[in-house]
Amino acid sequence: MPKTLIEPFRIKSVEPIRMTSREERVRLLEEARLNVFKLRAEDVLIDWLTDSGTGAMSSRQWGAIMEGDESYAGARSFYRLEAVIRKITGMLHFVPTHQGRAAEKVLFTATCKKGDLVPNNCHFDTTRANLEYIGVEAVDLVIPEGLQPSLVHPFKGNIDLARVEAVLKSDAHRIPFGMITVTNNTGGGQPVSMANIRAYARLLKQYGKPFIIDVCRFAENAMFIKMREPGYEDASIAEIAAEMFSYADGATMSAKKDGMVNMGGFIVLRDDTWMDDVRNALIMTEGYPTYGGMAGRDLEALAVGLEEGLDEDYLRYRLRTAEYLGEKLEAAGIGFVKPTGGHAVYLDARTVLPNMPVEHYPAWALCNALYLEGGIRGVEIGSVMFGKRLDDGTETFHKMELVRLAFPRRMYTQSHFDYAAEVIDEVKARAAAIRGVKIVKQPKFLRHFTADFAWVD
Ligand code: F0G
Repeated sequence: MPKTLIEPFRIKSVEPIRMTSREERVRLLEEARLNVFKLRAEDVLIDWLTDSGTGAMSSRQWGAIMEGDESYAGARSFYRLEAVIRKITGMLHFVPTHQGRAAEKVLFTATCKKGDLVPNNCHFDTTRANLEYIGVEAVDLVIPEGLQPSLVHPFKGNIDLARVEAVLKSDAHRIPFGMITVTNNTGGGQPVSMANIRAYARLLKQYGKPFIIDVCRFAENAMFIKMREPGYEDASIAEIAAEMFSYADGATMSAKKDGMVNMGGFIVLRDDTWMDDVRNALIMTEGYPTYGGMAGRDLEALAVGLEEGLDEDYLRYRLRTAEYLGEKLEAAGIGFVKPTGGHAVYLDARTVLPNMPVEHYPAWALCNALYLEGGIRGVEIGSVMFGKRLDDGTETFHKMELVRLAFPRRMYTQSHFDYAAEVIDEVKARAAAIRGVKIVKQPKFLRHFTADFAWVD
């Protein structure tokens, strides 16, 4: 058997990408105030900013798009998607939203109040922001292994059950529900084991608390369970996903990930306790409950995409791509979150820039260096994203300084990965010349998207 795990698809339509010179990139990054979010995408060669909504759709999805029913209420496309979602999740109640954060906003508006507390393995930044905006404390309780980049553990996304129990004991009255994020994006795209999901659900039940899963990358999580958790070797991905959902009372989904579409999201709930409030919040901000924030054609593409995302050959290739880049980084002596995650590789900036003070945002500096060196766009997951400027002008810093290279689904081929590995190597060789940054302008929430930076002198 040949060893190479090939892309399990062939390419039917192509989109050119543009080479730029180093001089051009220096100018472009300066114009973007040293913030790669503000670059024009056409000035990026390999865009690994996110795996969210950036993937390639299949010919079956494009075909389904023509069947979209754009009726305002009761569209055929809604019922088609509802049937697929009920089959995958086993949950009766479903509303579409335009993306994951809208699902969060609608659900939290309907269920949380100021002073509440929500435990999670790690809240994604929009999840945290949506909670904090209402005045809810978002508490991250991932296992300690999940915070050590170089430590290998099969399920680094697991939640620390002892700490969950402590918080349930001390603050039960403040907790509207418990959450878990699969895979744990903020902690390195790391999976959560079935045993952990099951035990967490049991614990929450003991305290009478509902259990909500952020299921953006549930199919990738299911594949990790199949590959790593004893007892699941022979289960299908759909069966594993169904068991994950069986422990939950509800879920929020950004369909832009494992839904294999460019835009979309949803909420599912097992019973109708919260449904009236959810529908009210939905109608106010997203739309009528049978379309939420989505066009009929997008509901159709999602119905197909959710099924394609569960394909085992695709998932095996998908997880292998990240692992392949990880092997190249290992050979080059560059630190990264181990083992590699499902949708991304997270470089540990401290291993490339060990002497740069955290005040100069080493992960942000590395992110800029990757663009300058080879036109690659990643995203900082460090103290710009998760640090905070306090009222007295001082800052809190994040525990890790990571740069995430997230892979759009079915989009880049092996030579793109080989090229990226060479660029990263080159950046490491020139690390002494990489400059730190300071923030010159920032908003109150989610500052990494829009902040302006300058080089540290
Ligand atoms: N939850 C998780 C775990 C996510 O990774 C994201 C988005 C969301 C919720 C919000 O979904 O973007 O559809 O509103 N993550 C993207 C990323 C943006 O780049 O990781 P959204």
